[in-house]
Amino acid sequence: MSQEKIEKNVGLLIVVIVLAVIWGGLVEILPLFFQESTTVSANGVKPYNAVQLAGREVYIREGCYNCHSQMIRPFRAETERYGHYSVAGEFVYDRPFQWSSKRTGPDLHRVGNRYSDEWHRIHLRNPRAAEIDSNMPAYTWLQDVKAKNGVGKNIEAKMQALSLLGVPYEQDDIAGAHKALGDLTEEDVLIAYLQGLGTALTTFK
Ligand code: HEC
Repeated sequence: MSQEKIEKNVGLLIVVIVLAVIWGGLVEILPLFFQESTTVSANGVKPYNAVQLAGREVYIREGCYNCHSQMIRPFRAETERYGHYSVAGEFVYDRPFQWSSKRTGPDLHRVGNRYSDEWHRIHLRNPRAAEIDSNMPAYTWLQDVKAKNGVGKNIEAKMQALSLLGVPYEQDDIAGAHKALGDLTEEDVLIAYLQGLGTALTTFK
């Protein structure tokens, strides 16, 4: 089939373009489903516990990803500032992942343990109290809602669904999930989630 023939026949051109896109997609995407580096958790990485998972729901509900990425790229400027670059095996339990694409604020992938819980509390209630010219909104209402009545209402069902997708939860973890939330507020569980971010990676795989 000569190039000229394809270029002069729109129908044929469309067919060939579609085939090329399908082939390109398959070659790029399919291997990711079978590659160990993308399907097996990196050393030390564990599924989110009930409290962290509820906190993650707050993160998603409040749209934190609109301003924060969770993806440290392997560039000196990033690793000096944030720590070890992100590796694929750290995200195998993230459904949906929170990589995001916009950094109005700093990347949060390794923010865990960087500040105290108290710092997060002050910062979430009034970002300007921690950083004078911050344009991050204040999230004052999170302290008023118990996670078990709010974001964690369906935590068992959520964990069950994740377990179906291959997250290795024990049935006991799922059964005790609602109880594990205790009297924690949505603010508490969000902080628990933030404090765990990026801390698990023990060795580079
Ligand atoms: C409108 C954009 C915006 C949104 C939405 C936003 N942030 Fe921020 N965030 C920022 C900016 C800007 C900073 C840097 C200044 C500061 O520390 O407040 C920041 C800083 C932070 C920091 C400190 C990071 C560090 O390394 O110093 C944390 C933690 C954080 N945000 C968490 C959150 C969480 C959790 C949410 C959702 C509940 C959220 N942010 C929503 C803009 C935003």
